[in-house]
Amino acid sequence: MAKVTTSSLLKMKQEGKKFTALTAYDASFAGAFDAEGIEILLVGDSLGMVLQGNEDTLPVTTDEIAYHTRSVRRGIKQSLLIADMPFMSYATPEQAMHNAAILMQAGANMVKLEGGQWLLQTVTMLTERGIPVCAHLGLTPQSVNVFGGFKIQGRDEANAKRILEEAKALQAAGAQLLVLECIPASLAKTITQALTIPVIGIGAGADTDGQILVMHDVLGISSGYIPKFSKNYLAQTGEIRAAVKAFKEEVANGTFPGKEHTFN
Ligand code: KIV
Repeated sequence: MAKVTTSSLLKMKQEGKKFTALTAYDASFAGAFDAEGIEILLVGDSLGMVLQGNEDTLPVTTDEIAYHTRSVRRGIKQSLLIADMPFMSYATPEQAMHNAAILMQAGANMVKLEGGQWLLQTVTMLTERGIPVCAHLGLTPQSVNVFGGFKIQGRDEANAKRILEEAKALQAAGAQLLVLECIPASLAKTITQALTIPVIGIGAGADTDGQILVMHDVLGISSGYIPKFSKNYLAQTGEIRAAVKAFKEEVANGTFPGKEHTFN
């Protein structure tokens, strides 16, 4: 596989080829995922839950994401590396620029930010200064306390319309990728068709351009609980590299996510 870039992902979308993404937090797993052809690795702030054992992602710091980004970078040959900007690290455009620079210098190719309308100026400022942005809409876990729990978003018409409009506005502001988390499959399909940038889904049905999962869920080690939208590929294959390969194959051939992983 040649080096994955925002241009190659765009080409995949245009050609209707599905791509895969996994979270990664260290060099060894990153190396294995990269070798299996996983196009995108994300140093997610999910590390606050799956590595640190917190109930949510809020305690994670920029320094912690930078530490894991440096480790993952050392394991990568081809995959695109995205680093999550943690809670309150981008509350103002100035904070965003300062902290995004730390993550880019740690080895990220792109940063991911959760939010819609309020982020537009920040997305433009980052992009203009050479920092590619992946936007994130739907169930944005840093807002868990505003949502009153980890709940599916965009179920009613007004919220669905708002998410669609925010997706278009983020693209216009300069975002080059979009993650949609835990929204109805029909809404994710509408957004994916409405945007020219690649859209990555998690709990967003089968019609997004790519799929992302948390590596601990794929390997069935997320404290005994696997979310409805995820799949334990290790149980199916019995070997880590085979599990990653099966995930990639099932996304490419449209088997994953199935109806049982999807919200309607
Ligand atoms: O933090 C994370 O791992 C994420 C993915 C679930 C998309 O944001």
